[in-house]
Amino acid sequence: MTEQRKRVLSGMRSTGKLHLGNFVGALDNWVRMQDQYDCFFFVADWHALTTDYADTSQVKRNSMDVSLDWLAAGLDPDRSTLFIQSHVPQHAELHLLFSMITPLGWLERVPSYKEQRENITEKDLGTYGFLGYPVLQAADILIYKGDLVPVGEDQVPHVELTREIARRFNQFYSLTSPTSAVVFPEPQPLLTPAAKLPGTDGRKMSKSYGNTILLTDPEPVVRQKLKTMMTDPARVRRTDRGNPDVCPVGDLHKIFSDRETNARVDSGCRTAGIGCIECKKWAADSLMRILDPIQARRKKYEENPRLAWDILESGSEKAKKVAAQTMAEVRDAMGMSLAFEAPDRAGGAK
Ligand code: TRP
Ligand code: SF4
Repeated sequence: MTEQRKRVLSGMRSTGKLHLGNFVGALDNWVRMQDQYDCFFFVADWHALTTDYADTSQVKRNSMDVSLDWLAAGLDPDRSTLFIQSHVPQHAELHLLFSMITPLGWLERVPSYKEQRENITEKDLGTYGFLGYPVLQAADILIYKGDLVPVGEDQVPHVELTREIARRFNQFYSLTSPTSAVVFPEPQPLLTPAAKLPGTDGRKMSKSYGNTILLTDPEPVVRQKLKTMMTDPARVRRTDRGNPDVCPVGDLHKIFSDRETNARVDSGCRTAGIGCIECKKWAADSLMRILDPIQARRKKYEENPRLAWDILESGSEKAKKVAAQTMAEVRDAMGMSLAFEAPDRAGGAK
């Protein structure tokens, strides 16, 4: 039965404690996929190094924080394989081999590469590793022969590139096995329906903007952040009518509040029947309904972090088995297996 389930694979860079944007943009979706698919989820700590190579003191801590948030949000080691990328060294081996066959032009054309080289000026991203970011991602995906890769829109070009690398590898090297001649299937991106989640300043919620609400924020912090959250700028006084469709708090309600609350917000705001303070209080109530069970579950692991670590380690062991099997096929297809072969006496004159 498990054999027939499609394999889902995705990763998240180890950026530290996750925020609501990570939750609605990825994590919540992953949690729901667990019953339907054979899921592999990993913390991409090597990918974090592509930009944060100069100071690695927080990498491990950050991986741990991401892992705790995953378990807290409901990723379940009984149904999914959860692990840390750098604990499965086969990713690096496959990355090396892919780097041999990937034309530079493919990498220089990747939109996120161009964008980040232009926008991130405080770090030197003129490194080999940064250019190779999508090659490592291709190795992450293909080493598990992932069928589906749930990602946000910005990551689709990386999955496209993964397909091109798979095709090129299959063209150069093929297995002699009668059952399947190609080593790598081509994965499909599975676009996460992107709810527009604004941060406290109204811009997209993002760690780099400092406008996040963390999954770990205690209730008073959540309420305080909402109190200072931006609202419909046209609604200056209590008596002004507002429009929840142009208000970041209105957006939060649409994502996290039930129908009734949304109806009360909509009419109350448009008629100036409610004040923003009240409206924000309701938004905080809705957020806490989501965050309370997550925080309760996280507490269990915080009290016993060893438990979380062991889960990730046994996930790594499971992942390593699959990865090693793929690497054996890769070596085979490339004519570089570890098996003994007698030297060719004809000296290559075939
Ligand atoms: N690049 C992805 C991101 O920034 C993270 C990632 C690394 C990933 N390896 C992956 C996502 C493999 C999907 C599949 O979000
Ligand atoms: Fe925004 Fe609510 Fe104020 Fe309307 S009442 S402007 S939706 S915070």
